[in-house]
Amino acid sequence: MSRPSSEQEYAIEAVNLVKKFGDQRVVDGISLKVPRGTIYGFLGPNGAGKTTTIKMLATLLRPDEGSAKVMGCDLEKETNKVRQCISLTGQFASVDEELSGRENLILIARLVGFSRQGAKERAIDLLKAFNLEDAAKRQVKKYSGGMRRRIDIAASIVTSPDLLFLDEPTTGLDPRSRNQVWDIIRVLVRNGTTVFLTTQYLEEADQLADRIGVIDHGRLIAEGTSKELKALVGAGRLTVHLHTPDDLAKAKTILEELTGDAVEMDERTLKLTAPITDHGEAASALSRLVTENLQISDFSMGQPSLDEVFLTLTGKTTGQAESEGEEADDNQAG
Ligand SMILES: Nc1ncnc2c1ncn2[C@@H]1O[C@H](COP(=O)(O)OP(=O)(O)O)[C@@H](O)[C@H]1O
Ligand SMILES: [Mg+2]
Repeated sequence: MSRPSSEQEYAIEAVNLVKKFGDQRVVDGISLKVPRGTIYGFLGPNGAGKTTTIKMLATLLRPDEGSAKVMGCDLEKETNKVRQCISLTGQFASVDEELSGRENLILIARLVGFSRQGAKERAIDLLKAFNLEDAAKRQVKKYSGGMRRRIDIAASIVTSPDLLFLDEPTTGLDPRSRNQVWDIIRVLVRNGTTVFLTTQYLEEADQLADRIGVIDHGRLIAEGTSKELKALVGAGRLTVHLHTPDDLAKAKTILEELTGDAVEMDERTLKLTAPITDHGEAASALSRLVTENLQISDFSMGQPSLDEVFLTLTGKTTGQAESEGEEADDNQAG
């Protein structure tokens, strides 16, 4: 595909966006680029400024400083054009709780210009795609959390948006519903939609996002692919327990040879920790130890958590960042 200009290349190009509430800069100079057809994960703890950033990019809040192009249109000068290209789950497409899932979808389809018959067909297709056929005629207020989240997303893609904003689409969902939402998002992107999604979970960003921006106190503190972020944290470890101190020492030498890196040794628990992030690499390391007749009593692979990313980048845990945010809220309220 030829991509002659950056307008065609990027769904979002934001430069130095700032939003102030009182004297608090809740979004404090965010710049980012989201290539079309990709998923961008905006990762950060409660109160970091994720929703405020989405609201600015979706034209619901005016930035105090900075500028952005969304689907090639200027956020400030071409606001209406931007609105035509985007959809924001739970905001633009607000679902009426008194109506059934089917009624909601038909209503929205009629509002955006579908014929009577076309609207019905679109509703049927969406209910099927979102696994809501059995609940089609039930009032939305009687939906479970997972069903509610799915009808929200369905409502926001009645007409396929070029760009979809999803604000914490799986927060509070059980693992099964969460996986369903993830599948829906993947299908959307396969069909050409760009997705900008916020999340508090590294795992979610890891599963879905092509690129991840980590936000804390209104600032982008890191950006990259999930692999790059994890490498930054330096986490991802293979832990191996041996049976004897003799085997422990031999295994250490072998693992250091293989990884070309220092391997941590705990002589008391007969444990080795090696900096291996790749599962294939871990498997060959283990099989090498077995070939050398070393007795492994246990092993595990550790993945870095959001907490580790945060700790590395900010020197504090997400819990601490969050309670700081709450303090700021309390101060404002009191
Ligand atoms: N309308 C508002 N007025 C004052 N403060 C706000 C408003 N909206 C959000 N905030 C504050 O801005 C900060 C960032 O909020 P938000 O963007 O909702 O974070 P997130 O979505 O990452 O949890 C929080 O401290 C929040 O209390
Ligand atoms: Mg939020």
